[in-house]
Amino acid sequence: MKVLVATEKPFAKAAVDGIKSIVEAAGGEVVLLEKYTVVEQFYAAVADVDALIVRSDKVTKEVLDHAKNLKIVVRAGAGFDNLDLEACTAHNVVAMNTPGQNSDAVAELALGMMVYAARVQFSGATGTELKGKTLGIHAYGNVGLRVAKIAKGFGMNVQAFDPFVPAEKIEADGVKAVASIDELYSTSDYVSLHIPATEQTKKSINYELLNKMPKGATLVNTARKEVIDEEGIAKLMADRADFKYVTDVAPANAAELAEKFGARYFGTPKKMGAQTAEANINAGLAAANQIVGYIKEGNERFRLNK
Ligand code: 3PG
Repeated sequence: MKVLVATEKPFAKAAVDGIKSIVEAAGGEVVLLEKYTVVEQFYAAVADVDALIVRSDKVTKEVLDHAKNLKIVVRAGAGFDNLDLEACTAHNVVAMNTPGQNSDAVAELALGMMVYAARVQFSGATGTELKGKTLGIHAYGNVGLRVAKIAKGFGMNVQAFDPFVPAEKIEADGVKAVASIDELYSTSDYVSLHIPATEQTKKSINYELLNKMPKGATLVNTARKEVIDEEGIAKLMADRADFKYVTDVAPANAAELAEKFGARYFGTPKKMGAQTAEANINAGLAAANQIVGYIKEGNERFRLNK
């Protein structure tokens, strides 16, 4: 069993060591392709492997065409918009993710970004407090529920919208379940995005929706670049001098936003939500265990392409 770890953004060494231990204990070997710069390197590396671990690396039809022996790909992380699931099925490749394994890291960053925005990017200028403000969590999955828990520690009023999670489950955590997206945005001082990038959500966070947010509002995006209507947010920030945007997934117009809106915009130089040693270890080891479990025992838990 040959396992390729293809990570344009590498895992921490401890995670790579852990993956190797798991695979080698099962009689396999690990091949590493880190910080690759052209997709042809990925094509060459995947040619003879049985299993593949990726992060946000795109697993396209072309990658799969080059992977003649591939049986399983695991996205070490939550969002799987980088996997072409139909192509995986067509190539008889099982696709999985590792939900929940990096959620603490992302949730901590979301709150950290809220503090950073509230304290005017640690510039020394007079800021505001999170205490007493209302936080709207857009999608109450593994990250959303952790954001809720931490935000309550800050004394925020926490509410959430998620059409796929029963209101009772949200309310059981002491979080108000709101009935619609419009209500979430129109009643939240902060909105933290935790939605996946899908055909339905792409560009759905637009001018009209964001303009419903109250005066002094902040949007926090540790989810996906694609869910934002980038022209819409640029227009909104131009129209509303009170609106702030902090993001871990830089938009195509990041330079324009930074130049025009100064302390009201901040984007991390590289997506870092899941970039902690702990998250790397949790997700990386889970991916390795899922590969061994599938290849040795046919365990299909967390399979995405049924
Ligand atoms: C995820 O979907 O798990 C996160 O966005 C993390 O992505 P990354 O592995 O590229 O850091």
